[in-house]
Amino acid sequence: METLRPLQSDQERYAESFLVYWNLSRNVEAFQNWINSYFPEKIMKEIKVEKEKELMVLGVGSGPGQTECLVLKELLKQWPKIRDTVVEPDLSYINKYQDLASKKTELIDGVSFEWRQQTLQQFRQETQDQPLKKYHFIMLFHVLYFFEIEDIADIIQYLKSILQDGGMILTLIECDDDCVAQTTEKFPQFKKNPSTQDVEKALAKLQIQFVKHRITLSLDGTSCFVGETKQGELLMNFLTQTAFFKETASNSLYSDVIKHLRSIVLSESEDGKSLLRCDCDAIVITK
Ligand SMILES: C[S@@+](CC[C@H](N)C(=O)[O-])C[C@H]1O[C@@H](n2cnc3c(N)ncnc32)[C@H](O)[C@@H]1O
Repeated sequence: METLRPLQSDQERYAESFLVYWNLSRNVEAFQNWINSYFPEKIMKEIKVEKEKELMVLGVGSGPGQTECLVLKELLKQWPKIRDTVVEPDLSYINKYQDLASKKTELIDGVSFEWRQQTLQQFRQETQDQPLKKYHFIMLFHVLYFFEIEDIADIIQYLKSILQDGGMILTLIECDDDCVAQTTEKFPQFKKNPSTQDVEKALAKLQIQFVKHRITLSLDGTSCFVGETKQGELLMNFLTQTAFFKETASNSLYSDVIKHLRSIVLSESEDGKSLLRCDCDAIVITK
């Protein structure tokens, strides 16, 4: 069997591949609608914090900030003053987030940021002598993949301990049958990410109540099938969670993966795009 390098072990490659994946799956109407309508109407209203207060927000694994900025924009409609602590270990992502935040000043004016280039574990250690510092809204978007399944319960319990009464933890995580999960499940060579089921099990163990909302999304996977492009290569890295997949996989594994991806194409859109299921779950915990 070939030696494949998990994508998470190569941060630069991860960042590039994630960006391609994000643009092909989140720059779509369905996601924008979810953020602009579903989130404020069904989720945000469950945050029980007076409008006059400064909303204390914690972003964990914020990445380059595109998703969080969209959410902040909605939160600002309810709470005109927000203090956002961003915990992100990758400096290049922090730089991108700062860049985005400065360009969107008119949209997220009212948010003051505290940037912390560190992991959640480091943040936890550094702030353990500040037990009174708590947050109203904690965002944990697609970050649990970087933790061991057996640590999820501890992370959630910790985050709940720093949540204010009336506050909310919002976790976004890939659902058990999205295209990444279907691919990493099928081929034992690939690293399998924790998914919704793992979070649900951890919450059941902790006896924490939660509400789950499905976000139905599709990903334009066309570039995987149409010859050699940089975009196609990076997307294949993300779908297989493998760095340099094209360069390191055997020809037979590569063609088996392509065959598998073709078999899970949802539909060809009118403009000829091959769409793959990319649903994720929003898990909401309130206090
Ligand atoms: C898939 S990206 C998600 C980015 C962003 N939240 C989004 O949904 O667009 C995962 C992020 O988690 C960060 N990360 C990895 N390990 C982490 C840790 N131990 N603590 C906090 N963040 C971490 C990565 O650097 C990366 O920015």
